[in-house]
Amino acid sequence: MAINPADRIIVALDGMAPDQALVFATQVEGLCWVKVGLELFVQAGPEVVAQLRDKGLRVFLDLKFHDIPATMAGSCRRAAALGAELITVHACAGSEALQAAQAAAVEGAQQACLNAPTLLAVTVLTSWEEQRLQRELAISQGIAERVPALAQLSATAGIGGCVCSPIEAAALRSHHPNPFALVTPGIRSKGAAVGDQARVMGPAEAIAAGASQLVIGRPITRSADPSAAFSACCTELLD
Ligand code: C5P
Repeated sequence: MAINPADRIIVALDGMAPDQALVFATQVEGLCWVKVGLELFVQAGPEVVAQLRDKGLRVFLDLKFHDIPATMAGSCRRAAALGAELITVHACAGSEALQAAQAAAVEGAQQACLNAPTLLAVTVLTSWEEQRLQRELAISQGIAERVPALAQLSATAGIGGCVCSPIEAAALRSHHPNPFALVTPGIRSKGAAVGDQARVMGPAEAIAAGASQLVIGRPITRSADPSAAFSACCTELLD
């Protein structure tokens, strides 16, 4: 399948002030997608989504909603109406909340005359370790079972995809064929600083493992030449 590499790479605008994020996003040549996380959203407010869209960028709004069904629905309706095209929710909010969120996102986009966004479920945050899940939350299910179980719960509720580690992508893809989205952070090209990411994969490897899109932050945002770093990641996908 022919791919447009720029459609596959989402650059995480982490650790930037709102003005800086807007300037950065327009300076990276060929950039299509950006991820707005909680830190930027809390500083800049919902306008940042409109401002990025006005500059021609597509927005992944990574606010990881986890609440009662009515609040999940209201939040996803608003996020979709803002024009966010990927929106994260926590799978452990449960099927009722996930279904409500999905239905409301579709309605919110329709009311704003926009295409329906894809909701992405977060299964188990990678900051959790098995022993701590057991000790602090009395969750005895291992992470290797819990991730696919929560992905299945999300898919059954009509959610369009998952955020997962590239290491988990192949197993999830075998149960969830396209167009189920698998969006993977933890991407590092050969030779790039791994930083605080424990388990990483290269861009091409992650796509080969079944990822539909990649989230890449610091290897591009902290590069001395972000356009060149982005372009190098795109080139890796073409090789
Ligand atoms: O800078 P880096 O490429 O590590 O950024 C990855 C992005 O993906 C960050 O926004 C980070 O919060 C997010 N993320 C992650 N690992 C997860 C989930 C999200 O690194 N398991």
